Amino acid sequence: MSDTDPRVRAKEEAGRHAAGYVTDGMRVGLGTGSTVHWTIVELGERAPDIICTATSVQTHDLATSLGLRVVSPDEIGALDLTIDGADEVDPSFNLTKGGGAAHTREKIVAAMSARFIVVVDETKLVDALGPFGTPLEVLDFAPGVVQRAVRAMGAADVTTRDIRSDNGNLVMDAQFGTIADPVALATALALIPGIVEHGIFPGSMVERVVVAGATGVRELVNDRR
Ligand code: A5P
Repeated sequence: MSDTDPRVRAKEEAGRHAAGYVTDGMRVGLGTGSTVHWTIVELGERAPDIICTATSVQTHDLATSLGLRVVSPDEIGALDLTIDGADEVDPSFNLTKGGGAAHTREKIVAAMSARFIVVVDETKLVDALGPFGTPLEVLDFAPGVVQRAVRAMGAADVTTRDIRSDNGNLVMDAQFGTIADPVALATALALIPGIVEHGIFPGSMVERVVVAGATGVRELVNDRR
C-alpha cells in the first residue's frame, strides 16, 4: 500500500480488488477519481488483453500512460464491464456521482456496459443520498434559468463551481438535503432544459459495490437488478 492514511489505503484496496473482474478479451469502461485510479494502476501492472474507453481526459491520460489501449465510446460500441467510483451510495445502490465533474461521460459509459461495478471507501455509504450535494452539468446558455428551476424543485442552494467539465460546460451543485426518492428526483432533473446531465445514478444500473474500510474489502451485491 502506498499511503498510511486509512481512507487512502481503503481506496487503493477497493480499486485494486475490482480489477480482478477484468479478464482477457473484455471491453472495459474506466471511471474517474482517486479510487478507480487504483483499478487502472492494477490493470496497467497486470496488462490484460483488453480494450478500454475512458470517462475523462484524466483517466484517458493515466490509462494510456500505463500502456492500456483506450478508444472512444463510439469505436468500442458496447462494454462488458465498467468500474467507477462514487461520492455517495445508498442502501438501494443509488449513487451520487460527479464530485470530479465527470458524471456525464461516466453515465454514458455506465449505460453502455453490461456490468457496472462501483468502488468506494466505506465513508461513501450513506443512509440516504443528499449530504454531498447533487452535481449538475449545465449548458452556459442560461445558467440562471436552470438554477431557478432547480430551486423551484426544492433545492435550498445551487452553487456553480470554478471549473468546467471536460465537455466545456458549467458544473453546479444543488443542495436538496436528504433525498427521499432519488429515482424520482433523477427523473425530474432530467426534464429541466439546460441540464446536460445530473449526478444521480439509479441503483438499477449497479451490479455490485466493492467497499473497503477498517475491516478490509467486502462486496455489496445488488440482487434486485
Ligand atoms: C467523478 O466525477 C466522480 O463521479 C467520481 O467517480 C467520484 O467523485 C468518486 O471519486 P473518488 O474515487 O475520488 O472518491
